[in-house]
Amino acid sequence: MKLMRRPTGLLAEGDLVLSEAAVPELKEGEALAKVKYLSMDPTMRGWMAADTYMPAVKIGEVMRSLGLAEIVESKHAQYKKGDKIVGLTGLQEYVVVDAAPRAGWNKIPSIPFVSDALFLGALGMTGLTAYFGMMEVAKPQKGETLVVSAAAGATGSIAGQIGKIQGCRVVGIAGTDEKCQWITEELGFDAAVNYKHADWKEKLAAATPNGVDINFENVGGEVMEAVLGRMNLHGRVVLCGFISGYTKAEPARMNMGILIVKRLKVKGFLVFDYASRFTEAATELGKWKMMGKLKDRQTVVEGLEKAPEAINMLFKGENIGKLLVKIL
Ligand SMILES: NC(=O)c1ccc[n+]([C@@H]2O[C@H](COP(=O)([O-])OP(=O)(O)OC[C@H]3O[C@@H](n4cnc5c(N)ncnc54)[C@H](OP(=O)(O)O)[C@@H]3O)[C@@H](O)[C@H]2O)c1
Repeated sequence: MKLMRRPTGLLAEGDLVLSEAAVPELKEGEALAKVKYLSMDPTMRGWMAADTYMPAVKIGEVMRSLGLAEIVESKHAQYKKGDKIVGLTGLQEYVVVDAAPRAGWNKIPSIPFVSDALFLGALGMTGLTAYFGMMEVAKPQKGETLVVSAAAGATGSIAGQIGKIQGCRVVGIAGTDEKCQWITEELGFDAAVNYKHADWKEKLAAATPNGVDINFENVGGEVMEAVLGRMNLHGRVVLCGFISGYTKAEPARMNMGILIVKRLKVKGFLVFDYASRFTEAATELGKWKMMGKLKDRQTVVEGLEKAPEAINMLFKGENIGKLLVKIL
């Protein structure tokens, strides 16, 4: 599926277009992998629009995406048929893994009773984002209050659970009552606030009687402003993402004065900054998962042709947990 036009707002028909090409003949040092799952990530909307921390996808190129694929044929010393790998597969059914040492592919282990899809979610990029954002940037202390936005999403749901593991009072902000119920009743968040209810700011105040020490921010704009208004002096703000602005031409303006008034420590981070420590973090997340301390959920859309709709689901709040496209 190729990028044929830079979207404005949500993706429209014709922005991403399916096309067919022959599967290339493998050269020595290459392997062919069949894509099984595609990871749907808000950052894809950014990759379509402009250069950011990575160059924008060029018009006419296969759309960039993370995915999980299985080796079906190999002339590559490191891969044999049946190996499963995670990396930048792109929105396509087959991908050639080349000989370049960097290539960025990670082989995933086969663990009984653990679904492969977990390596794109709780044990994959979004789980790692939550891990490093919490453990390295926020550094939570027992008894602190943590507020997580987009709390029922792939990253937020794991960040909040890590907060619980570290002994915090955890409050999630999400866009439906079903999501609020899931994060409190299933994931153990102490409270959840639906930001689509008119009185949500009063509910947020009631849920944070001792103020907020850590804001794990996934949304930005009005949601973030309301949380900053509840922060304690010298609180920490972990800037993970600003999804409320990704489909807008102009990013939301915010009153930055509050940062001074409350002497807040604000830090943005990218999960890729911690690439050298991914195995260590995935092992820790895996241990929590095995111990039943970390729960995960996926929303799965079937069929490559549904990828554009699936990307839009992220911006319409139609996913719970990690959003994946399963290639049939
Ligand atoms: N820094 C990094 O390295 C890094 C890595 C991965 C992800 N991220 C960021 O983390 C955030 C979450 O990503 P994810 O992959 O885990 O996605 P996700 O949370 O699984 O899905 C996105 C969720 O965002 C919420 N949302 C969408 N538009 C919104 C709006 N205008 N206002 C409030 N909430 C809105 C929706 O839930 P509701 O129903 O609750 O609205 C939606 O389900 C994004 O900002 C992403 O860019 C950063």
